[in-house]
Amino acid sequence: MSRTAFVAGNWKMNGSAEQVDAFASTMSKAASELTCDLAVCVPAVFIERMGRGLTAEQVALGAQNLAGEIEPGAFTGEINGAMLIEAGCRYVIVGHSERRALYAETDDVVVAKTKAAAAAGLHPIVCIGETLEQREAEQTEAVLSRQLKAVLSGCEASELKDLVIAYEPVWAIGTGRSATPEQAQEVHAFLRAQIGGQDATMASSIQIIYGGSVKADNAADIFAGKDVDGALVGGASLKADSFIDIARAAQQAG
Ligand code: PGA
Repeated sequence: MSRTAFVAGNWKMNGSAEQVDAFASTMSKAASELTCDLAVCVPAVFIERMGRGLTAEQVALGAQNLAGEIEPGAFTGEINGAMLIEAGCRYVIVGHSERRALYAETDDVVVAKTKAAAAAGLHPIVCIGETLEQREAEQTEAVLSRQLKAVLSGCEASELKDLVIAYEPVWAIGTGRSATPEQAQEVHAFLRAQIGGQDATMASSIQIIYGGSVKADNAADIFAGKDVDGALVGGASLKADSFIDIARAAQQAG
């Protein structure tokens, strides 16, 4: 890996104040030996609490979603990018497959949210990934290419400067069945080549991270792929110890 490794946690709709405090305390103690880029994306109501608990600068805060609208207004239940910045966030997950599948987020919505994140100064972690059906029908590259190109062509270059791509095969999320290291590397190389078709500099510098059942015991193998720059970690990010082990594996691979 020639790029700095990046490991981000995605707590989804999990956690409690007690879990936030336990995570923050363990993480803060370990952080000085962690040199990779790190972020933890907690439910919005816990962002500030996590921020108060994390004494180590190198662990950034992230959100799991934001409004596609930039300006404040009558959007009940929504949170805009500026509010996330005020709460201390540096990152935001955009277009997670759960949001695409369960909350009808289309490629257009993902583009609007990526633009809104960039406008606020957040680093968008845009998730793309194929379903098992699509993989079995050999549509993986077509699906990923569509999802990626929507963002690359829908945004200005200035809106893409802090973009992170998370390749998350839907069939690997929360299933305990991770992609093999070869499958992950193959897709990451494909994505980097696609980005290279538009912008060679961006292709060599962008962090493309893998997500889907990454655990402490499979992380090192997955990170061996030269185009795999880290991970978006769901279940194994809820406990600081396993998250720290994954971060260590990422920096050793780097
Ligand atoms: P998982 O989730 O690690 O629990 O599979 C990953 C994700 O959905 O980001």
